[in-house]
Amino acid sequence: MFQIQENFSLKNLNTFGVDVTARWYVEINIEKDLLNLISDPKWRNTPRLILGGGSNMLFTKNVDGLVIKMNINGIQHKVDGTDVIVTAGGGVVWNDLVNYCVNLNFVGIENLSLIPGSVGASPIQNIGAYGVELKDVFLSCKALKIETGLIRIFNLADCKFGYRDSIFKTRLRDKYIITEVSYKLSSILNPNTSYGAIQDELCRQGITEPNVKDISQVVSKIRVSKLPDPSTVGNAGSFFKNPIISLQEFNTLYDKFPDIVNFPVGNSQIKLAAGWLIESCGWKGKIVGQTGTWKNQALVLINYGQATGIEIYNLSTQIIKSVEDRFNIVLEREVNIF
Ligand code: EPU
Repeated sequence: MFQIQENFSLKNLNTFGVDVTARWYVEINIEKDLLNLISDPKWRNTPRLILGGGSNMLFTKNVDGLVIKMNINGIQHKVDGTDVIVTAGGGVVWNDLVNYCVNLNFVGIENLSLIPGSVGASPIQNIGAYGVELKDVFLSCKALKIETGLIRIFNLADCKFGYRDSIFKTRLRDKYIITEVSYKLSSILNPNTSYGAIQDELCRQGITEPNVKDISQVVSKIRVSKLPDPSTVGNAGSFFKNPIISLQEFNTLYDKFPDIVNFPVGNSQIKLAAGWLIESCGWKGKIVGQTGTWKNQALVLINYGQATGIEIYNLSTQIIKSVEDRFNIVLEREVNIF
């Protein structure tokens, strides 16, 4: 059974810690309740917002509708030769899943240690960090179509994963609720240490043959040193995507800014570090009222306690303008804005 509450504060349910309310609020613990809720004629025409860990969301206003918090729990695994299929409920905290796998020496998501958010949200934005993206280990997900209540299984190709992107952010936005995700991991150690910061930290610790636990520990250490902990400082990780531009555009920029931080993507595109672009415009660590950018990573916007979502949004608009004026590049917000 589920219980609908009225005028519910969402302050503790979004990692920015923005103080907004939901007109109605419900927590869903089992799939059957979700089906009952969405097929109930009483709620059919009410606008709905699905909430996972609230770690990629900026609320700029109260929600005049029904907020559905997904709490479906449970993790299971199945070993098949060297493959390990791990299946988790959409409400499982992402890092709890990582810890479950790391403790059992299942290989594949250790580079994604400490990412805030829930399992159900992981395919929506194809979470990624330190050289690994969710799509590298994704097997399938189970989702409920809001309009019909029918369950559909989405396989890798169905999800149309891109950089921080999937079909759930584009064509099927707000159409499905993800209730369960399956990942294909491995029992064979094949650590991904391609990211420079991982190599540096392994070297510093004198680890030459890292195991899954080492990688997880090293990634966690790097994250903690660079990114603010949402439980003490309101934030939603990277606020913008790293822009990807053509080689031709890059060459023009490079002539003017020879120290521009860049990473090749295939043969004809270049990914720029948005954090560097923002820092170069003088924003790193800057405080504007109750908001600002993080002192160790300019790509992260902060709520210093009492900021409204609008203040944070307005800061992001100012940053976009500075970067455009200086580099002629328009940053795209990665965080969902409500
Ligand atoms: N940099 C600066 N100034 C800054 C920040 C970064 O000059 O203030 C430069 C540095 O040269 C650094 C480079 O940018 O070497 C890259 O920075 P970092 O390694 O911190 O990674 P990022 O590109 O800024 C991305 C993801 C993060 C993920 C890290 C590690 C996006 C939008 N962000 O950040 O993901 O943790 O790589 O893989 O792709 C998130 O999505 O919320 C997130 C935190």
